[in-house]
Amino acid sequence: MHLDLEPGAGPLRGELRPPGDKSISHRAVLFAALAQGTSEIHGFLDAADTRATLAACRALGAGVDEVAGRLVIRGAGLAAWRLPEAALDLGNSGTGARLLLGALAPSPVTATIIGDESLSRRPMDRVIEPLARMGADFTARDGRFLPVTVRGRPLTGCRHDLPVASAQVKSALLLAGLHAAGLTVIREPGPSRDHSERLLADFGARLRRDGLQVAVEGGQRLRAAPVAVPADLSSAAFMIVAATLNPGSEIVLREVGVNPSRTGIIDLLRRMGGDITIEPRPGGAEPRADLVVRGAPLKAIEIEHDDVVRSIDELPVLMVAAALAEGTTRIRGAAELRVKESDRLAVMCRGLAALGVDLTEYPDGVDIAGRPGGDRLRGGVVDGAGDHRCAMSFAVLATRLGAPLTVTGAAQIATSYPAFAADIAALGVRIEVRRAPA
Ligand code: S3P
Repeated sequence: MHLDLEPGAGPLRGELRPPGDKSISHRAVLFAALAQGTSEIHGFLDAADTRATLAACRALGAGVDEVAGRLVIRGAGLAAWRLPEAALDLGNSGTGARLLLGALAPSPVTATIIGDESLSRRPMDRVIEPLARMGADFTARDGRFLPVTVRGRPLTGCRHDLPVASAQVKSALLLAGLHAAGLTVIREPGPSRDHSERLLADFGARLRRDGLQVAVEGGQRLRAAPVAVPADLSSAAFMIVAATLNPGSEIVLREVGVNPSRTGIIDLLRRMGGDITIEPRPGGAEPRADLVVRGAPLKAIEIEHDDVVRSIDELPVLMVAAALAEGTTRIRGAAELRVKESDRLAVMCRGLAALGVDLTEYPDGVDIAGRPGGDRLRGGVVDGAGDHRCAMSFAVLATRLGAPLTVTGAAQIATSYPAFAADIAALGVRIEVRRAPA
């Protein structure tokens, strides 16, 4: 799939509710499938990644009904999980695959997890190794890649000092620890998103949190709970940056999740001069707010490792903001970007450079010399490389170019934001979706 964009959008105007939060949607269905009883989920993200997790839960025995915009999941606890008839295909979803590995490790079933080409290149050893220390039994291609076969068996809790701050790894270990014998303690080098901790508490789990450490006693049972999923700040980020970059814009994004472990993008854009107002809305364990975003000139900043953890998925679109800011933005401590759905540092640097942005790529970051106004940048063709967030980031850049832009390799936008083109068009951006020639 290609995206064709007219040059220069003019001001963005209007309001919308971005799609449901991807991280929370995965967790909501998986925790409901692990719990006893019937859970109702409102605001579930209807996209390829979260549908893959939902299908896996169904294949493992959870009852799933979709009624009038909500999901009803009937779980009977991990002990009732049944042998899936085929391999569980998690598609493009790292969160789905890694969380499931943790849930399956202490389960009564044997299952094989597979994924698409991108997911099959991503490291699974970061969950397999710590889970194996709890007694889990895996067979993985080359010891670290999908397909991975898990033979569920009883596990014993232990202490994990994670080398990388990762909510996926932490969550996989929490799910295993809940169903293991004894205590599981997880310590991270930085504060990764805490959706699992918040949502597991709603499902009746007792966790002890202390700064960068979380501990869970094994032998716990989850009980069904209602979940109201806020809109996804990571999807909202594309609209936030597009509105910021276009003078005279004013948009309202409704009910966006503003969990402090995710709001790095708002803090960084504000440091650059962005005009974003947060109007809190009532909600559950996950804070949410309406965001009012106005066009504003940006200036360069330095982005360090601690900022990176809180904005990891938004760095591609932040690189676009940097390309149009006054001065040179430095990003460091972002080597994790290289093991996402694509090597996001390489894909963004290649694409931005092809459009005329001056930049220097480093192993863990980039220096971007911004060009406020951006109209001296070229249009043409740029490759989203099958990575949803890179493709949407380039589409945002198109709003400031002096010539039309085609974004190829954009089909994976469907993994997180199927209505992206329609939503950004509704705010005033001229965009057309074209099927790639066969
Ligand atoms: C996610 C955690 C992050 C993030 C990913 C979603 C999650 O990955 O990049 O898009 O839902 O737990 P890591 O755990 O690898 O940092």
